[in-house]
Amino acid sequence: MSRTIATEPLEIIQGLENEHQPPLYAKRDIALVRGEGSYLFDSTGKRYLDAMSNYGIAGLGHADPEYTAAMQDQLARLTTCHQSFYNDQRAAAMAALQSVMPAALDRYFLSNSGTEAIEAALKFAIAVTGRKKIVAAKRGYHGRTMGALAATAEPKYREAFASLLIETVHVAYNDPEAIEGAIDGETAAVILEPIQGEGGIHMGTAEFLSAARTAATTHDALLIADEIQCGFRTGTPFVAPAMGTVPEILVAAKAVGNGFPVGVTALTSAIAEQLPAGVHGTTYGANPLAARAIIESIHAYASRGLYAQSARIGEMLMAGIRDLGKSKIRDVRGRGLMIGVELKERVTPTIRALQEAGVLVLPATPVVFRLLPPLIWQEAQVREFLAALDTVL
Ligand SMILES: Cc1ncc(COP(=O)(O)O)c(C=O)c1O
Repeated sequence: MSRTIATEPLEIIQGLENEHQPPLYAKRDIALVRGEGSYLFDSTGKRYLDAMSNYGIAGLGHADPEYTAAMQDQLARLTTCHQSFYNDQRAAAMAALQSVMPAALDRYFLSNSGTEAIEAALKFAIAVTGRKKIVAAKRGYHGRTMGALAATAEPKYREAFASLLIETVHVAYNDPEAIEGAIDGETAAVILEPIQGEGGIHMGTAEFLSAARTAATTHDALLIADEIQCGFRTGTPFVAPAMGTVPEILVAAKAVGNGFPVGVTALTSAIAEQLPAGVHGTTYGANPLAARAIIESIHAYASRGLYAQSARIGEMLMAGIRDLGKSKIRDVRGRGLMIGVELKERVTPTIRALQEAGVLVLPATPVVFRLLPPLIWQEAQVREFLAALDTVL
């Protein structure tokens, strides 16, 4: 067998994964082996319209020529460089991040995934406030390492580890009084997704975010905005600042690296300066290749006009889905290219039928499927998606 097996029959690929991976994921029965722009290809050569960008990661789609050339260049130059040394790409990544962050968030801790970036945010909040309690939202998802898991609401992720998790109070999302009541003098941080992704695409209201902001300030607690999923895809780089709420800590991942694993924990100088040296760290974090991915992704999103395009295409997509007038659809909601379609029945058969028809979407809850397309989608992809959905429903 060759060292890479993209050309092997599906059964060989499936057999090896099934034999050697713990059964942690419900598998879909295709092997994706190649991507090009808004399309993915399986091991039989079948083409799929990508309406998921691998859970919101591939903002530029797949194998973008400019991004690929930059990453290849960096691969041939320098890939690893500990943070005790300065590095040209890391410095440029800091400048790129400042170009998309609110001005007050001018310090960046870089890591290698969303959950690690959340873990850092929680550790920073606990270290700076000297408190332990976290306030988060019901239906919220923040990752599955032990700190992030405490903030994540879903019992199926938490149960086996409940006794080990940091004390967290989960309040109803979009209930300003509930969040005001939960934040007190024991609270280190309140952590919220401005748009809940895994929980079923629910948009936070400006009132709710503002109530969290005010209550956190009143009690000297920190506000953490988790923009790992909603970042970059709703018409602006980030949602909370666009809605008038600036947190002390904003967390990004997924699209900020366009496929190369990156986590970003952005914080104010005031918080950063209180962190004792050595209180947190990572060997891989902020490596030159990750830094280059950040630089290229942020540059491409801005220079190609992809914020405005996401907002426009997202509106078109939502209007188009509503206009199909399908009786099975209960609700269509979202912002930009973060869209939830709630059905009056379970979504699994629809997701499967779309896949058969050559379109890949994601589940969110048992009755909501999600669209998180690459930000490069244009009218042609909207038409293609709507035609498939029309047939399938
Ligand atoms: C809002 C949010 N926070 C945190 C995470 C965790 O990120 P990762 O899977 O990279 O650890 C995710 C992943 O889906 C997410 O959507």
